[in-house]
Amino acid sequence: MPLTYPLARPALDRLPPFGKRALVKVLLHIIWGEALSFQVTQFFSRFDDQTLARYAGHQAQEENQHHRFFEKLYKEMTGQTYVSHLGHISRSLQQFGKEVTNCALSHQQIEAMIGLYLLLEGLASILFEKSYPGCAKQWPAGQATLKQIMREEAGHVGFGQVALQQRVRPMASSERRRISQLADHWERLIRRAIREIGWKVFPFPVPVRALQKEFQEFMSQAKAGLGLTVRSEK
Ligand SMILES: [Fe+2]
Ligand SMILES: [Fe+2]
Repeated sequence: MPLTYPLARPALDRLPPFGKRALVKVLLHIIWGEALSFQVTQFFSRFDDQTLARYAGHQAQEENQHHRFFEKLYKEMTGQTYVSHLGHISRSLQQFGKEVTNCALSHQQIEAMIGLYLLLEGLASILFEKSYPGCAKQWPAGQATLKQIMREEAGHVGFGQVALQQRVRPMASSERRRISQLADHWERLIRRAIREIGWKVFPFPVPVRALQKEFQEFMSQAKAGLGLTVRSEK
């Protein structure tokens, strides 16, 4: 089983590193996302699907450690204690979080896995990769842990791809179509979230478009890997 899901990142490579102000705002979203992953993986660890439950139990520990690490990083960067405040978080991301949590709560396993492993982990891996150089510079002592976290996140995306492939590919085509439409709906929410986050942190739209393009590429590859319909219109 591949442990990571490598992707070419041409749009991200052309994007200049985030400055400190942008990093702090992105960090607020990263911390919020870590809390959401922790919550959803805790639901998964109670599911009947033993492969998923075992992996999710281990993943929940990692997500909890990530959350604590990013809280420390926030303190290093701002001198202030992180306080969870929804006013800082993109509304579209909050909406997405509610919908994925509802799926997990109501045992819609495939839907919740799509939300966590494709959409949220996909967004996280893109934001992490772009934030890493600036965060490592702001807090050199945390550099090794940051690298470790990025490896673990790549592992979550890789696990999600393999686990979803095994569960989605045997589905009837009408079911796959339904899942595809849900993934499209969440992709639109995340693309909107990237725009909302972007307007909070950048004075011009170029980084927003680069991040959206990167996310679109990620989703196209991930959906093709699952045999889901890839939207042509974006
Ligand atoms: Fe994480
Ligand atoms: Fe993760």
